[in-house]
Amino acid sequence: MQNNPDQFSSKIGFVLAAAGSAVGIGNLVGFPVAAAKNGGGAFLLLYIFFVVAICLPLILAELSLGRATGKSPLGAFREISKGHKGWVLAGALSLVTPFMIAVFYSVLTVWLLGYLVLVLGGMLDQLATPVYFGGFITSPWIFAYLAAVIAMVIFVLKGGVRDGIEKASRLLMPMLFIMLIGLAVFVLTLPNAMAGLKFYFTPQVDRITWSVVNGALSQAFFSLSLGMGILITYGSYLRKQDNLVQSAKMLACTDTGVALVAGLMTLPAIFAIYPNTNPSELSDSSVGLIFSFFPNIFMAMVPKFGYAVSSLIAATFFLLAFVAAITSLVSIIEVPVAALKAESKKTRNAALGFVIAAVSVGAIFSALSFGQVKWLSEFAFYSGANKSLFDVLVDVFYDTILPFNGLLICLLVVWQWKRHNMAAEMLNNNGSSGWLERYTHFAIASWIPVILATVFVITVINKFMS
Ligand code: TRP
Repeated sequence: MQNNPDQFSSKIGFVLAAAGSAVGIGNLVGFPVAAAKNGGGAFLLLYIFFVVAICLPLILAELSLGRATGKSPLGAFREISKGHKGWVLAGALSLVTPFMIAVFYSVLTVWLLGYLVLVLGGMLDQLATPVYFGGFITSPWIFAYLAAVIAMVIFVLKGGVRDGIEKASRLLMPMLFIMLIGLAVFVLTLPNAMAGLKFYFTPQVDRITWSVVNGALSQAFFSLSLGMGILITYGSYLRKQDNLVQSAKMLACTDTGVALVAGLMTLPAIFAIYPNTNPSELSDSSVGLIFSFFPNIFMAMVPKFGYAVSSLIAATFFLLAFVAAITSLVSIIEVPVAALKAESKKTRNAALGFVIAAVSVGAIFSALSFGQVKWLSEFAFYSGANKSLFDVLVDVFYDTILPFNGLLICLLVVWQWKRHNMAAEMLNNNGSSGWLERYTHFAIASWIPVILATVFVITVINKFMS
C-alpha cells in the first residue's frame, strides 16, 4: 500500500495537489479586487467565515465520499445510493460539470500562455494597447498555444496520481508561492502601494450588501474546488492512514492564504500605478483585468525600471497565473479520466486519450466563439444579450451548477450515506472527534443545504431570468 502509484504518497503530497487545483486566477486577481470593492476588511472576515462555516464541512464530505468508496463521483454516487437511478444521474452531473469547466478553462489557460510567450518576446508595449486582446483571442495562434497546453496536461496526467499529479504539484506549487511572495514584496516597495492596502484591510461595513454576501460565498466555494468532483476523486487517492480532517484544514488554509497574499500583490500594484483608482470602478471580470488592465500597469513601470525589467516583472506575473491555471486544469481533467477508466475498464492511457480528445474538440469550439464562428458566438440569448458558447459554459457550469452539486452532496451524505458513516470515515484511526467534525455533523444536515439551495435559486434568477 505504501508505494501504491495510484495514491498520494503523503499528506503534504495531497495538500499540494489539492491546492494546485484550488489556487487559480480567481485567487490571484478575482479575490483581491472583490475585497477592495466590497468592504475591504469586512469582506475578508466574511470570506474567512464562509470558508470555515460552509466550505470546510463540504471539503470533508467530498473527501470522505471519495476515500470511503475509492471511486470518482459517478461511482461514489452509485455505490452510496446502491444504484438508485436519480442519484446515479446526480453522479453523472458531477462528471459533466468538470468536463464543461475544463472546456472553457483550457481556453483561459491558453490565453495566459500566449501572453507569457508574447511578453518574453518583447511585445509588452503591444499587449498594453486596447485592441490587442480582441485580436489575439481570434487569431489562429490560439490553436498552437492550445496544442502546447494540451501536451502539458497529457504529460502530467499520463504519469498518474503519484508520479504525475503529485510530482508536478511538488515542483510547481513551491514555484508559485515563491513568485507570488516575490512579486508582493516588489510591489510593496513602490510608492503609494499603501493606498491599495488601505482599501484591502479597512473594514467598510456599509458596503456589505446581500449581493456582496452571496459573492463572498460563491468566491469561497469556487475557489476551493467544491462541487466539481475533484475532491471526491482526490479523496479516493488518499491513504486510509492519512488524517482527513487535518488535510482538509491545510487545504483551506493554503488556498485562503494564497488569496490573502495575492491581495498584497494585486492591489498595491494597481494603486501604485493609478493612485486615483476608485475601487468600485475596477472590472468584475478577472479576464478583463488580467489581459487588458494589467499590461498597462506593467507598461507604466517602464519609465522607472526600463522596458526589459518591466517585461520581466510582467512575465513573472503571467507565469504565476499560468502555473495557477494549468494545475487547476490538470485536476479538473483528472475527474472524467478517472471515471472513464473505472467505468470502461480501459487502461489509464486509453481513458486519458479519449477525454483529452473530447476536451480538445470542446476547447476548439469555445475558442472559436469570439466572433469567428457565428453560431458559436451567438450560442444562446438570455438576460437581454447574445451569449457565446464560452459565456454559456461559464454561466451554467461555473456560476450556477456548482452550488447545486454541493447541495446534492449534502443530501447524498445525509439521506443515503448517513452521517455516522461519514464520521467513521473522517475519524479513521484518528482518535476522538474535534470541533470541526462535530460542527460538520450538525451543519451539513441543516443550514449548509439551505444556503446552497438559496444561492442556486438566486443565481438562476439573476443570470437567466432578469
Ligand atoms: N480557484 C480557481 C480559480 O480561482 C477555481 C478553481 C478551483 C478551478 N478548482 C478549479 C478552476 C478547477 C478550474 C479547474 O480560478
